[in-house]
Amino acid sequence: MKNIYYPYKAELTKIKDETSNIKTFFLKLSQPLTFKGGQFMQLSAPGIGEAPFTPSSEPGEVDEMTITILKTGRITDYLHEKVKPGDILGLRGPFGHGYPTHLFDGKTVLVIGGGVGLAPLRACLYALFGECYDRVNRISIKYGARSPYDLVFRDEYEEWAKKEKVDMSISIDRPHPEWEKGAFKFDGVSQTVGLVTVLLDNLDVDIENTYAVSCGPEIMLKFVTYKLLDLGFKPEQIYLSMNRRMSCGVGKCHRCNIGPYYLCKDGPDMCYADIMNYDPFGSL
Ligand SMILES: Cc1cc2nc3c(=O)[nH]c(=O)nc-3n(C[C@H](O)[C@H](O)[C@H](O)COP(=O)(O)OP(=O)(O)OC[C@H]3O[C@@H](n4cnc5c(N)ncnc54)[C@H](O)[C@@H]3O)c2cc1C
Ligand code: FES
Repeated sequence: MKNIYYPYKAELTKIKDETSNIKTFFLKLSQPLTFKGGQFMQLSAPGIGEAPFTPSSEPGEVDEMTITILKTGRITDYLHEKVKPGDILGLRGPFGHGYPTHLFDGKTVLVIGGGVGLAPLRACLYALFGECYDRVNRISIKYGARSPYDLVFRDEYEEWAKKEKVDMSISIDRPHPEWEKGAFKFDGVSQTVGLVTVLLDNLDVDIENTYAVSCGPEIMLKFVTYKLLDLGFKPEQIYLSMNRRMSCGVGKCHRCNIGPYYLCKDGPDMCYADIMNYDPFGSL
C-alpha cells in the first residue's frame, strides 16, 4: 500500500524572483500528478522539514509545476536562501478539495487576492481562462499588495486584462512615489491606493449571480468577507482560502480544525456558510 507520508522526488529546475521576499520555484516531478486549482502540496527540503503550499501553475495532469513562496520562517528561509536549480525536493499531495469551479457555470467569479495570496489564485485563474472560460459569465480580479514592488506576477496583468471576459483592478496599501509617477502602469488595469477592500467599493457585478473566492492574510479575508456581506453577498457565495498551520495534510493530526471541518481535507478553500458559526477569524 502507498505510504501517504512518503514524499516523491521533484527536481528544482528554476527559481524566479517575484518580489524581495517572494520567489517562484519551478519543479519537474518524478511522476505525473493531477491537481485542481486550490489543492495544496506538502513540499519538503530533505533534512529540514515540510510545509504546505498551493501550486501557482496551471492545474490538470502535469509533470511540472510552480510553487510561489513567501519567505517567512525556518523552511521558507531555507528554500529562499539555500536551494538551487538541480536540487531534489520532496512532494506529497495533492491534498484538499480545490476551488469549486463546478459552481461557476453562467456566473461571474470575483477573485480577490492579497500579497502572496495571488499565487494559489493564479492556478484558479488559469482554470478560469482555460477549461471554464466558455462557461463563466465574467471574471473580475481584485488584487492588492503593500507597495508596487510587492505585487506578484506583474508581467501577466496586461495579458489577463486583455481577455474579453476579464476586468482587473489593483491597489497598493499606501501612496508610493513611483506609483504616482506612473512607473508601474499596466494597460487595461485600473489602479488605485488603499487596502484591497477599496477595490470592492462601487463593485460593478450582478451580486446575485456572483461567487467570490479570496486568498490572502487572514485579517484581509475577515474584512473582505464583512465587506462582501455588507454588499449583499450571501455566505454561500463566499469561498475563503483558510491557509492555517497544517501537519499531516490528510485529516489525521487534528492540527487544522475549524469546528467539525479539517481544513486540509475539507478545504483549504472553505465556503463561509460552512464555517461562519465556528468563529473562523478567532481574535483577529
Ligand atoms: C493549504 C496551504 C497553502 C499555502 N500556500 C502557500 C503558498 O502558495 N505560498 C506561500 O508562500 N505560503 C503558503 N502557505 C503558508 C506556508 O505554508 C507557510 O508560510 C509555511 O508553512 C511557513 O513555514 P516556515 O517553516 O518557513 O515558517 P515557520 O518558522 O513555521 O513560521 C514563521 C512564521 O510564519 C507563520 N506561519 C506558519 N505557517 C503559516 C501559515 N500556514 N499561514 C500563515 N502564517 C504561517 C508563523 O506563525 C510564523 O509567524 C500555505 C499554507 C497552507 C496551509
Ligand atoms: S493537517 Fe492534520 S488534520 Fe489537517
